Amino acid sequence: MNPSESLESVPLTAEDMDREVPATYPTEAFISRDYLEAEKRLLWPKVWQMVERESDLPDPGDWLTYNVADESIVVLRKEDGSLRAFHNVCPHRGRQLVAVPDHLPGKVHSVRGSRRKGFVCAFHGWTFDADGANTYILDPQDWHGSLKPERTCLSEVRVDTWGGWIYVTMDPEAVPLKEWMGRAGEILDHFELDRMRYKWRQWAIYDCSWKTGIETFLETYHVAGTHTQLLAFGDYYSLSKQYGLHSVSSYDTRDEKFRMSESAGTTRAGKGEDARVSTYELIRENYETINYAASTETLVRAAGRLVDELPEGATPAECIAHWIASAKADDAARGVVWPEVPPEIKPESGLAWGLFPNQNILHGETFALCYRVRPYGDDPDRCLFEAYALERFPEGEEPATEWVYAEPTQENWGPVLAQDFANMAFVQKGLKSSGFRGPLPNPHQEQKVINLHRNLARFMGRGAPVKAEG
Ligand code: FES
Ligand SMILES: [Fe+2]
Repeated sequence: MNPSESLESVPLTAEDMDREVPATYPTEAFISRDYLEAEKRLLWPKVWQMVERESDLPDPGDWLTYNVADESIVVLRKEDGSLRAFHNVCPHRGRQLVAVPDHLPGKVHSVRGSRRKGFVCAFHGWTFDADGANTYILDPQDWHGSLKPERTCLSEVRVDTWGGWIYVTMDPEAVPLKEWMGRAGEILDHFELDRMRYKWRQWAIYDCSWKTGIETFLETYHVAGTHTQLLAFGDYYSLSKQYGLHSVSSYDTRDEKFRMSESAGTTRAGKGEDARVSTYELIRENYETINYAASTETLVRAAGRLVDELPEGATPAECIAHWIASAKADDAARGVVWPEVPPEIKPESGLAWGLFPNQNILHGETFALCYRVRPYGDDPDRCLFEAYALERFPEGEEPATEWVYAEPTQENWGPVLAQDFANMAFVQKGLKSSGFRGPLPNPHQEQKVINLHRNLARFMGRGAPVKAEG
């Protein structure tokens, strides 16, 4: 028995989380094959899940496939510009309409194409239009009139868009996407993520559960232990907060001198005597070692000028204000207009969002560093990991990118992400230890991790976090 199961089972509520009540939960979500199998029934068919950026399907006839667990879905842009999504299966005898091999390291990320007007099944030739209606069956008379359109059409999947991403849900009863996104969506809308485009996108298969994978990027409590080199430039004390299904983290401070509304997210002063210098060093170090993501060239350059443009003794708050104003002006001059994020939204918008179940977004006005992790086959010890950088580019200057398979090395991902990857397989191993008493996430700094398990339990009917007080 997992030791955490012996605790008195008092399921943790959202209110408990707001009070930062310490919690624990069983390890089966990470290591149990049975749990992973149950996700196929209880989780993946019930949630709204992100498929891909809308910009990957710019033209009518563009299509792509999205696979999760045993499901495969085809998303198609129709002539009128709208999106349709279908289960990738022929209603006759079940052949995949579009043959999609499993995700193969270095080979198959997804199957895509263009100029599609409909589907012809390769097995017996049944044919479907872009709305999924059946348009051809060989010898229909043999069914004695029983082939009603609702029996022979494709199975539709609900599709919607938010923030420039395509989302699907296989659940006809699911709440609308806007409601699913809730307050998290409203806050992030101010950042106009839909105007951003891929800067780079990479994927790999890693030796850990998809939950171990996504959790690695849900909190900054690990910075001091994992990315020790970053401590020379800034503190990484953070707070985190549940927003129902989703959750957010923000930089917090143990030092009042650094407390300012502008520093809630990725824009903050570095530590050091001269804030003009330390702010630049912090931003440059982060940008260069997080694979040129989580900031922009414009922001780094503008920070580099602080020492020339501000007098000695400028406070951290003055440095941040000047830096942001000059980066914004630099961007405007090259045709990148920042969204106006209202001052009252800024602190609430935080540093990074965890969107249930498996999407992470670390955002700024002109960039986002994002992650998505899915199960890999039926193996609880492996996952399909994707990370990508978005940026707001001048119109017409967006780079052409595609998914690149990248082994988890420093050369491929930069030192910081490589350090994160180095933990993942060993967390997965440690979770199986009979001496492990169950996770004890930091209730202030790692609440996003607890909230993931609270919401997983709502869908799975097991594994709810319980109080770990006393
Ligand atoms: S399985 Fe598709 S036409 Fe027979
Ligand atoms: Fe990290």
